[in-house]
Amino acid sequence: MPELTEEIKDALKGISMIKSATFMNGFLNIDLNRAMFANEVIKTINKEKETYAQEASKGKTICIDYSAPNIAKSFSVGHLRSTMIGNALKNIYRKLGYNVVGINHLGDWGTQFGKMIVAYRLWGNKELVEQNPITELQKLYVKFHEESEQNPSLEDDARAVFKSLEDNDEDVLSLWKYFREESLKEFMMMYELLNVSFDSYDGEAFFNDKMEPIVQMIEEKNLLVEDDGAMIVRLDPLPPALIKRRDGATLYITRDLAALFYRKKTYDFDQVLYVVGNEQKLHFEQLKAVTNLMGYDFDIKHVNFGLVLQDGKKMSTRQGKVVKLYDVIQEAIKEAKNQILAKNPNLENQESVAKAVGIGAIIFNDLKNDRNLEVDFNLSQMLAFEGQTGPYLQYSSVRIASILKNQTVLDSFDSSIYEGDLYFQLIKDLAQFNQVLTKAAEQNGPHVVSRYLLQLSSNFNQFYGQHKIIVEDEVTKQANLNLIRAIRYVLNEGMRLLGMTALEEM
Ligand code: ARG
Repeated sequence: MPELTEEIKDALKGISMIKSATFMNGFLNIDLNRAMFANEVIKTINKEKETYAQEASKGKTICIDYSAPNIAKSFSVGHLRSTMIGNALKNIYRKLGYNVVGINHLGDWGTQFGKMIVAYRLWGNKELVEQNPITELQKLYVKFHEESEQNPSLEDDARAVFKSLEDNDEDVLSLWKYFREESLKEFMMMYELLNVSFDSYDGEAFFNDKMEPIVQMIEEKNLLVEDDGAMIVRLDPLPPALIKRRDGATLYITRDLAALFYRKKTYDFDQVLYVVGNEQKLHFEQLKAVTNLMGYDFDIKHVNFGLVLQDGKKMSTRQGKVVKLYDVIQEAIKEAKNQILAKNPNLENQESVAKAVGIGAIIFNDLKNDRNLEVDFNLSQMLAFEGQTGPYLQYSSVRIASILKNQTVLDSFDSSIYEGDLYFQLIKDLAQFNQVLTKAAEQNGPHVVSRYLLQLSSNFNQFYGQHKIIVEDEVTKQANLNLIRAIRYVLNEGMRLLGMTALEEM
């Protein structure tokens, strides 16, 4: 042991950033050269182009499957969560140097289209549907469920219609196409508002003609078993996976299997992340189990998340109680605008600032806690300028922008000032950014970034409360300016990764 400690001490001596190293009670105490360390940290951030790419990410491809709303139904709060978590993960992985493919596995196929088409043919009002497609279709869907309770044969009709859709019946197909197009219009409007995009929109329908070879593969491996006319794969102790119904129609999992093999062939992924709510846990366990039995060991992960609650209750689209997310977002923007105008009536670009604040508030509210926890949806709380909110982060960054305004920041500065404790706390925070990103990726948890940004903002605001930034002494002033500029850069970059927009003014 003593030799070892001497050896370590000797090795550390060569590192100029370490002032001294001592062993005490089995612990190694390293005294850092704070000024030198600080200088490194700020210089690195100033480079801006620093990619944070790591060895581990080199040449690695990750498919992220997120958002995936269902056609002819409204965009649910669950899909909004998936959209924002997936989008943040995509940004974080890209920043770390991974090749990321963002996939929107649209729910545009399945028995529900049989139901929808049966309902439309029985009760649909063409004009009403044309005026307000999603709302009307949603109502028809709800009606189908109510009616089929009295009249179970409707379910058989729906299955038959879906089967004819899979068999490319022209009339059914053209209705389906119409539903799909109208839904996509609404979804795209939402994505544009949220500033979210995808590399692929290959949804379930895309795999209609790609399932047969997979089913054959399963059969060749002797895994396909007939069960009361249907085709299943036994997965004891898990419940069996239903691959084909009695009438030959395929299922959600059949399409997910086809999608997985297609993605392997197309993107040669190293990993696939499925950002989908907790309620589909079994589905992804089955997906993995079937591929394992087939002899593949794909690295697939269900990135699950908790519910969104409003006033302690599940926010849902069931029982015809449709929470239109587009409207909710517009309301947030309107409320953000009122708040901003109360604070800063002469603000320019009010519309775009209100949009950034309103949407940023919703995004941050969703990403601030561990994704497994439930999210409380309370507009006035998430829009507050104080507390753990999106506007608080934006406001901290804007504060820095206003100090930097009309100042010239020189790239050379004296870092000895940063040795003081309050300064050095901020330096330590800044130095953590890289590790924070790695940890967020390891946990698939955007909240790691969120918590970090809250801490950085709060430490900055505390510092600002105690320190004058623009001081007479030019050397101190330059050190101050360099520090806050680096803080703003990290805040803005962190917000961008979460999907928020940083502002100059608010
Ligand atoms: N459309 C599905 C739903 O709303 C989510 C799809 C998730 N992705 C997947 N590959 N299964 O429940």
